[in-house]
Amino acid sequence: MLMIPESFIQELLNRVDVVDVIDKSVPLKKAGSNYVACCPFHQEKSPSFTVSPTKQFYHCFGCGAHGSALSFLIEYQGMSFVDAVEDLAKSLGLAVPQETQKMTPQLKEKNLALGEALELASQYYQTALKKSERAIEYLKKRGLTGQIAKTFQLGFAPEGWQNLESVFKQYDDDVLTIAGLTLKNNQGKRYDRFRDRIMFPIHNMKGDIIGFGGRVIDPNDTPKYYNSPETPLFQKSQELYGLFAGRRAIREAGAVLVVEGYMDVVGLAQFGVRHAVATLGTAMSTFHIKKLMRQTDTIIFCFDGDHAGKAAAWRALMNALPSLNDKVVLKFLFLPDEHDPDSYIRVHSKEAFEVMMHDAMPLSQYLVQHLTEKNNLVTQEDKVKFLNEAEPILKEITAPKLSLLLRKRFAELAHLNEKEMDQLLHLPQPKSLSHKVMIKTKGKLPSSVKRKFILLLILKPELALSEDILLVSQDSFEDDLLKKVLEIALHQPDSKPSSILHGLKSQVDGALMDLIHEELSLFDDHIHFESEIEGARKSLTQQGKASATREHFNALKDKPLSSFTDEEKEHLKMLAQRPKTPPRD
Ligand code: GTP
Ligand code: MN
Repeated sequence: MLMIPESFIQELLNRVDVVDVIDKSVPLKKAGSNYVACCPFHQEKSPSFTVSPTKQFYHCFGCGAHGSALSFLIEYQGMSFVDAVEDLAKSLGLAVPQETQKMTPQLKEKNLALGEALELASQYYQTALKKSERAIEYLKKRGLTGQIAKTFQLGFAPEGWQNLESVFKQYDDDVLTIAGLTLKNNQGKRYDRFRDRIMFPIHNMKGDIIGFGGRVIDPNDTPKYYNSPETPLFQKSQELYGLFAGRRAIREAGAVLVVEGYMDVVGLAQFGVRHAVATLGTAMSTFHIKKLMRQTDTIIFCFDGDHAGKAAAWRALMNALPSLNDKVVLKFLFLPDEHDPDSYIRVHSKEAFEVMMHDAMPLSQYLVQHLTEKNNLVTQEDKVKFLNEAEPILKEITAPKLSLLLRKRFAELAHLNEKEMDQLLHLPQPKSLSHKVMIKTKGKLPSSVKRKFILLLILKPELALSEDILLVSQDSFEDDLLKKVLEIALHQPDSKPSSILHGLKSQVDGALMDLIHEELSLFDDHIHFESEIEGARKSLTQQGKASATREHFNALKDKPLSSFTDEEKEHLKMLAQRPKTPPRD
């Protein structure tokens, strides 16, 4: 994998303007010192997405989405980390440096060449399809036109062991093996991975080919589908077939349809249902759900009506629960036993399929149906069994409204009132309460002085060098956080907040990062930093007993961050004073 030095990421985040980066895909309007727009990460009618030019990050007060210019490219554009870094570097006219000791130049070239190799192979497969009557005949028999084959760039890998030799000058190049196009036998001889198969190229969100699925033509061949292996470009659990081709249709329909097979995606598109995607033969992952929630807020799972389909539906549901918010609508469509989406639409019609989509079962109904399928809730034992099964499910759901409504519904079914239900299951109160309170405190300062001190350090890291830094250890999470922020600030005192936050992200958990972003977003940009920090410092001094020495601090602050021992990190309970105060703006 490419190793990009952390210092370069910091430099990028300090030099790039998040407003420019976001404005290219989401037009921003100036509002006071910030920029606003309707949030691209959830659907809304009035803007709660803010972009701060001073803090260099975005934050949505509606759904809580937040991040830097870099995370915007990853989260919104769907770029990989490396691509996003390269994109930002290019916009600044910088070249991305590589960490040489971990990364030989040779491997780097290969990595860059993987995408090209896949693209060339795909062109070869597409041309080969046009030349193969047998392959064309097969696709026709499956009801596909040349037009739809072209849309999905379908191809054909002919019979034979080394067809790709005609495409690549260096057929023995490891790049082709890493890309999953060739394999090596025991004698070290290379041969084509895909032979005599219909080829389905798999694209990332930028439209680059990252892998293939290959289907046999002869029904006696096995396996029916053969996929590219996991490569630096291709992780099966993160990609969805058809998402790139269907991205516009998904936005237009306001919904995405998740089906099980490549052929289902293509077959539905043939009939004009273009907003379908499929996993690559894996279960629906949390990552998939999040990826889809960025595109739309209605996700319809379409499963076969047989036992395997039902099991897959339940698994998808359980994986989705923790990521759900109250904006997203999940629905479940179960096809008649003998059909998959492709065969259903072919036998019936687009209209019949649309009726099925329209009538798909909402999540809550599906949950209740599943839990009461073999339980008619008559005896006390039935009810206990029901509650036992409902409990872990309710605990997975963090979306406040959905959680509340489901508790109500489940309580009714068990003939309990809600209070009894909550007591019985020891359910936590929905998260939103504290969240709402925080939004209402808009403009007010964060609760604790220590927290305020932390926020000030993130906003102006140079304060780490110039002020008395006093940590009072009370073993609160804030002490730990303060230490971390202080360490980062000391080593990059000239950084923008987005860069400090980037450094912090790998060290603290996501919920805490959410909270910090939220509080930072509420922080007034025009505060007088000196008096704020002075006030915070005074309160902190009064609060506790100072225990650290200034010399120790001075010794620590000149060492590289990586050389701190745990003990030294502990010793960052200290006082800091620099002789000269740096110039202020
Ligand atoms: P058709 O049989 O041509 O209609 O394809 P389909 O897409 O409907 O396939 P099916 O419903 O049998 O399987 C759904 C998905 O599971 C496929 O699209 C593949 O992603 C995956 N899959 C099915 N069979 C295999 C296999 O033998 N190997 C692997 N790796 N994946 C498979
Ligand atoms: Mn099928």
